[in-house]
Amino acid sequence: MDESFSLLTDIIRRRRSEYPSTYQAGAIDEALIQAVLENACWAPNHKRTEPWRFVVIRGPKRESLSLFMQDHFRKQAGDASPDPVKLKQAGERPLQADTVVAICIHRSAADVIPAWEETAAVACAVQNMWLSCTALGIGAYWASPSVIGSLGGFLGLTDGEECLGLFYMGWSGQPGPERTRKPLASVCRWL
Ligand SMILES: Cc1cc2nc3c(=O)[nH]c(=O)nc-3n(C[C@H](O)[C@H](O)[C@H](O)COP(=O)(O)O)c2cc1C
Repeated sequence: MDESFSLLTDIIRRRRSEYPSTYQAGAIDEALIQAVLENACWAPNHKRTEPWRFVVIRGPKRESLSLFMQDHFRKQAGDASPDPVKLKQAGERPLQADTVVAICIHRSAADVIPAWEETAAVACAVQNMWLSCTALGIGAYWASPSVIGSLGGFLGLTDGEECLGLFYMGWSGQPGPERTRKPLASVCRWL
């Protein structure tokens, strides 16, 4: 098998959702974060709209995110008390990660390109980031908690921009959980 195909296959199959509680301590060099984001920008995108936007949250800004997320969780619970486990987790995750990248989208006018195509392009960008992280030994995980709908002000998003998730990054601490996929034959038909 071609060497570059084998290398790529290995990285694709080793990619895992790695949760912040399993990350090892240690700062990720800013140049690596930049490199991961540069790769994100090489994703395919229809009409070259490059709809991805990223907001990098590091250092003390993670504490602000942690407080924001907990506050959101409490407000969401209303008069009921919030689930203490989930509240704790919401506060801890940004602090357990070295870096949190807010995955955002800038949607073009509807007549330029369908919204789903822009979302698909951003998802491709995230996969580029994720595979890059795996290759670098960085654990990563795409979360889409409800708080992302309220993060516009915190992230400084402008008109037409929206947050689609939080991408947690930290040095990989342990191999991700074993995963399986359905057999190809169950999801693919050849005509
Ligand atoms: C768009 C998107 C949103 C996701 N949001 C969450 C999330 O909110 N919480 C979570 O635990 N996992 C989330 N995940 C990760 C999936 O749960 C994970 O990819 C899936 O379980 C397969 O595991 P693997 O990534 O290790 O292969 C998300 C994945 C995608 C693609």
